Amino acid sequence: ENLSERSLPAVADYIKSGKARKVVVLTGAGISTAAGIPDFRSPETGLYANLAALELEEPEDVFSLPFFKENPKPFYVLAKDLYPGKFHPTISHVFISLLATKGLLYQLFTQNIDCLERAAGVPADLIVEAHGSFASQRCIDCKTPYPDDKMREHVSRAEVPHCEKCNGLVKPDIVFFHENLPSLFFDRRHMAEEADLILVLGTSLTVHPFAGLPDLAPFEVPRVLFNMERVGSLGSQPDDVLVLGDCDTGVRQLASALGWREELEAEWRK
Ligand code: OAD
Repeated sequence: ENLSERSLPAVADYIKSGKARKVVVLTGAGISTAAGIPDFRSPETGLYANLAALELEEPEDVFSLPFFKENPKPFYVLAKDLYPGKFHPTISHVFISLLATKGLLYQLFTQNIDCLERAAGVPADLIVEAHGSFASQRCIDCKTPYPDDKMREHVSRAEVPHCEKCNGLVKPDIVFFHENLPSLFFDRRHMAEEADLILVLGTSLTVHPFAGLPDLAPFEVPRVLFNMERVGSLGSQPDDVLVLGDCDTGVRQLASALGWREELEAEWRK
C-alpha cells in the first residue's frame, strides 16, 4: 500500500515524498457549482431538475442531437445561462492549476464545458475536454466553423444561429449524447493507466466512457474523491480516500496539509 492511512494528510505525505509525479485529475460539474453554474443531477439545484420550463419530455433531450435538429431552442435557452465569460474559477480549479505549476499534473480530464480550467490557468496541453466545450462551434450539416463574435451575440439573446454557407443549424463543439468523444480523449486515456495518483472531483461518474477512467489505474494507485456523495467504485480499493462534502473545502484541507494553502488562496484571489 502507498498510503499510511486513508486520510488527506497521508495523501499529502505521499505527494510530498515525491512518489506522486503523475497526477491525473478527473472533474465534473460539481467543481463549478461554487462558481454559480448548476450541475446536472443534484436533486433540487441540478439542471435536469430545472428544465421543466423548456417543455422537454426528458431533460437529457437538451443534449440530444435528434431533438436538437427538431427543436434547437431549448439548448440555446440553456446555453445563455451557461455561456462562458461571466463565471470565475473556484478554489478547486485553481488547485488543479497549482498542480500544473508544480509540475505534478500529468493530465486533466474534464467533463465540463465551461472552460473554467483554462480560465484558472491550467495549460491547454494538459486538458482533455472530454465532452467538448463552448470554445468553438460549427454547422451540424456542412461542418463550417461559425464566428465566435456572432455566436456570442446569438447566445446572449438565446437565439438559434444558422450556418452562413448552407443555413444549417450551428452547434457548439459540445459532445451530445450518442456523439463520439473527441479523439484526444481516446489518445490520452492511457495516461490514467500511468497515473501514480488519481484525484476525482465533483462528478457523479454516470456518463461513460468518462466514468470508466478511475478504474484504469492499477489497483495500488491511490485515488482520492472530493465529492458530495460517494460515486463509482471510489472507496472500494485499499488506498482510496473519500473526502465527502463540498470539494473546495476538501481541496483547501489538502492544500493546507501540503503547505500550499497561502499560495492557493493568493492565486484564487488574483
Ligand atoms: P452531475 O450533475 O451528474 O454530478 C455532479 C456531482 O458533483 C454529484 O455527485 C454532486 O453530488 C457533486 N457535487 C455538486 N456540487 C458539489 C460541490 N460543491 N462539491 C463537491 N461535489 C459536488 O455532473 P457530471 O458528473 O459532470 O454531459 O455529469 C456528467 C455529464 O452528464 C456532463 O458532462 C453532461 C451531463 O449530461 C454533457 O454535457 C455532454
